[in-house]
Amino acid sequence: MNIPSIVILDFGSQYTQLIARRIREQNVFSVVLPCTAKIDDVRAQNPVGIVLSGGPSSVYDADAPPADPAVLHLGLPVLGICYGLQFITHHLGGRVRSAEKREYGHAEVEIVDVQNPLFAAIPASIHVWMSHGDEALKLPPGFHLTAKTASAVAGIASPERRIWAVQFHPEVHHTKQGTALLRNFLFNICGAQSDWTPEHFVQSTVATTRDKVGQGHAICALSGGVDSSVAAVLVHKAIGDRLTCVFVNNGVLRKDEFAKVQQNLRDKLGLRLVAVDASRRFLAKLAGVTDPEAKRKIIGNEFIAVFDDEAHRIAQQTGGVDWLVQGTLYPDVIESSSVKGPSQTIKSHHNVGGLPETMKLKLIEPLRDLFKDEVRRIGRDLGMPEDILQRQPFPGPGLAVRILGEVTPERVALLQEADDIVVSEIKTAGLYQQIWQSFAVLLPVRSVGVMGDQRTYAYTCAIRAVHSEDGMTADWVPLPYEVLKTISSRIVNEVRGINRVVYDITSKPPGTIEWE
Ligand code: XMP
Repeated sequence: MNIPSIVILDFGSQYTQLIARRIREQNVFSVVLPCTAKIDDVRAQNPVGIVLSGGPSSVYDADAPPADPAVLHLGLPVLGICYGLQFITHHLGGRVRSAEKREYGHAEVEIVDVQNPLFAAIPASIHVWMSHGDEALKLPPGFHLTAKTASAVAGIASPERRIWAVQFHPEVHHTKQGTALLRNFLFNICGAQSDWTPEHFVQSTVATTRDKVGQGHAICALSGGVDSSVAAVLVHKAIGDRLTCVFVNNGVLRKDEFAKVQQNLRDKLGLRLVAVDASRRFLAKLAGVTDPEAKRKIIGNEFIAVFDDEAHRIAQQTGGVDWLVQGTLYPDVIESSSVKGPSQTIKSHHNVGGLPETMKLKLIEPLRDLFKDEVRRIGRDLGMPEDILQRQPFPGPGLAVRILGEVTPERVALLQEADDIVVSEIKTAGLYQQIWQSFAVLLPVRSVGVMGDQRTYAYTCAIRAVHSEDGMTADWVPLPYEVLKTISSRIVNEVRGINRVVYDITSKPPGTIEWE
């Protein structure tokens, strides 16, 4: 039987993943399933409790998510959040109505049932985050009011039926007592254990990978980033040198990255690593190409071609390769099974993960249950160096999407120097780990300047630094003037070919993080 879990049924809220993360922060395993999941699939997760998430619909909408109300009758503790409260009310004989006024944002809630275990050790008046259009008008039989705002129901419960619900969002950090409330649900009500720990994860993943792979051979495409590196180290722990990792220099890596990654992964972590310098091949294909999507496609296709060649070579040496290790994370898994509609493709993201289907390899995805911060914790538990674990995300097409216009070896060299200055100054200022991404962009724009007594006519470089939770939205970072000043003066003085530095103050949306 798998580890006991809390099952979160996703009704499409933007906060569903956050609920899962908050629960896991308490070392309790949580699983997100679409609200349409079959009851047997819910049971198969070995749940000790169920959370019904929020969602954008009204229970009366014709296309309201069709969840099976049988989850309310499993005898397991249930916590409904926002839409979850309305779902419970509607399906157990109460009444929901469209609120006169949409409540969105900060609100004050009074706890009226202070003895309720969900509110143990929580003050009688709390500050919360609300986001809803409908409200409960009549409670279902057997339920009582546990909390209220000045105008509406904020909490209901039926301890006999083991069902609790709140109208506000305990998972959002604006709800001051949110963590305490979730802890009450997990530990006082569900009797969950804090057994979801890095050691547990490493032990069980190593054991299942060993079983699965048997005497087979695996390959892994490494990017030098957190996900593929942690995935490789885990699988290496399970099958040793029957895992071969491939790291490709596509000619658009950061300064010294090709050497540094080899040093980290081969020398420090002992991985069996094949490093392929294919930079000429990539740069030749990129010559003359200016369209961003065309650059992405070329790099993606070329990567697959290089990896495919290496995989065949490795297969010949080892007598066959059966498995491909990928660093897929839980948000990608949830995303692909979520109830949300397809969103428009803005950029065709190429991750080293999406690899050769023609090779007919079976997949090992040791991180597919984890969020990014959990991957870092696992990496730390495995003794991996902090500079891998804390590395900011770097796109698959590398500097090619940060060099606007044609990618030439000279432009790559210029941007590598400028980027290295940005990253090292941000690190010196102690800001690197607080920022999602910080980098330089090379613009195909030349302007006039003066150095000493000489006129210059050289490129412009833009600096970008953003805060983000997941890359989906981002805010530009107000970097301290002193840091900007040092970066600008170092780039103009040290990188011959760049004579002007500008700062990008566009958030996402409407901008994207990368310029192409
Ligand atoms: P955008 O530019 O779409 O980026 O706002 C969001 C996040 O995705 C990264 N990114 C990529 N990652 N292949 C990748 O592996 C790509 O083609 C790619 N394009 C963007 C970007 O760095 C940011 O973290």
